[in-house]
Amino acid sequence: MCRFRDPQDRLFKALNSSIAFDFRLAPYDLEQSLAHARMLARSGIISDTDLATLERGLDAVREEFEADRFAVKPDDEDVHMAIERRLTEIVGPIGGKLHTARSRNDQVATDVAMLVRAHTLGAKDLVLDLMGTLAGLAERHLDWPMPGYTHLQRAQPVYLSHHLLAYFWKFRRDLQRFNFCMTATDDLPLGAGALAGVNFDTSRMYVAQELGFGGIAENSLDAVSNRDFVLDYLAAAATCATHLSQLGAEIVLWSSQEFGFCEVSDAFSSGSSLMPQKKNPDGAELLRAKAPRVVGRLAGVYGVLHGLPLTYNKDLQEDKEPLFDAIDTLELCLRVASGMLEGISFDRDRMAGAAADEFIAATDVADVLVRRGVPFREAHGMVGGMVRAAVERGKSLSELTVEELRELAPELDGEFYDVLEPGAWLESKVSEGGTALARVREQLAHARHLLAEART
Ligand code: ARG
Repeated sequence: MCRFRDPQDRLFKALNSSIAFDFRLAPYDLEQSLAHARMLARSGIISDTDLATLERGLDAVREEFEADRFAVKPDDEDVHMAIERRLTEIVGPIGGKLHTARSRNDQVATDVAMLVRAHTLGAKDLVLDLMGTLAGLAERHLDWPMPGYTHLQRAQPVYLSHHLLAYFWKFRRDLQRFNFCMTATDDLPLGAGALAGVNFDTSRMYVAQELGFGGIAENSLDAVSNRDFVLDYLAAAATCATHLSQLGAEIVLWSSQEFGFCEVSDAFSSGSSLMPQKKNPDGAELLRAKAPRVVGRLAGVYGVLHGLPLTYNKDLQEDKEPLFDAIDTLELCLRVASGMLEGISFDRDRMAGAAADEFIAATDVADVLVRRGVPFREAHGMVGGMVRAAVERGKSLSELTVEELRELAPELDGEFYDVLEPGAWLESKVSEGGTALARVREQLAHARHLLAEART
């Protein structure tokens, strides 16, 4: 019997123990415990002397964590038990009073909410930095023409500033999603006890205020089973990481010899061990590749929560590793994206050359016809015919002669050649949110305003 119990015990511990990863909840757990102990004393549940003892002990434990001196023991199942065990070693049996009117169920929900809050604020700062970098880059490349693409085919020319600012607004929406995460973590779970409330008249609002929560969870059953804020953070992170992957993918394409639009600084690229001429955009490739990992973490936590009966179930312990991994991945990627964009250089001539492909002005020619009263669909067909004719005759559009023009689109006159003048197609996009310079300037001013507002 004994021979089997030991290995089985070890097996179970390996499965059940979370200390290896929930260790990083320690700063939140300690902060929470201090607030909880103070509340217990204020509510007359423990004496002021006991509080002083607990404060001294928690302080000592915190110092051990900060100095990386905290020693985990084999029986420490999770960070909460490890801290309580150590506290009791330091201050004696009074340490056991800390867990009055508290369960690990409301305790862990509170720690995780505090961690999500802290990293939501962290993500917001990093997203804002990236938005600032994008705005600065747009400012420095305000009137650099480049092709805009659909289906990765040259579609219509745009300014590089306009293209970069497109990402600004994507990240602005990420910021809004992270703002929502702040709301999602605003109700303090602590005080719910194991599930039904506790046998003391505690002051939850006091703890909430001490820990920076706006209010308290209204229902104890919901409080201990709620991990919506983990989903909310992961969803925001997944979308943000997806935006970073799109940005990364464009940098990969743009830095290829085929495009030749940009060069990534050496700090974020690598050389080939075999081919000395190569510079690989590894950083951008990894931005591209990391997003599905974050999306997978979100899917994983949905899986954990799926079908869970109320209230606390040990399944909930599985919220942590996906959350932590997503946090680390996202924060790293956001830092890399900012750094990479700060050191990127664009090739004005290459981009302008690609944007000078006259065929991408076809829509503008069609619009000249529209202004002459030709219905758009018909104009579209006529211009299609002109493009085909030009290609067949080995010409660009502006090389079509007046005679050819008369044959292909009798409604057209000299204005046809005007709209094909370099730059004309860009500056004609005057609608709100369009790429004409005046509109991009407006957009940039709005972006700057939002950044200033967000930083105050
Ligand atoms: N390590 C646990 C978790 O992360 C803490 C809560 C344990 N509660 C319990 N009733 N076993 O979920």
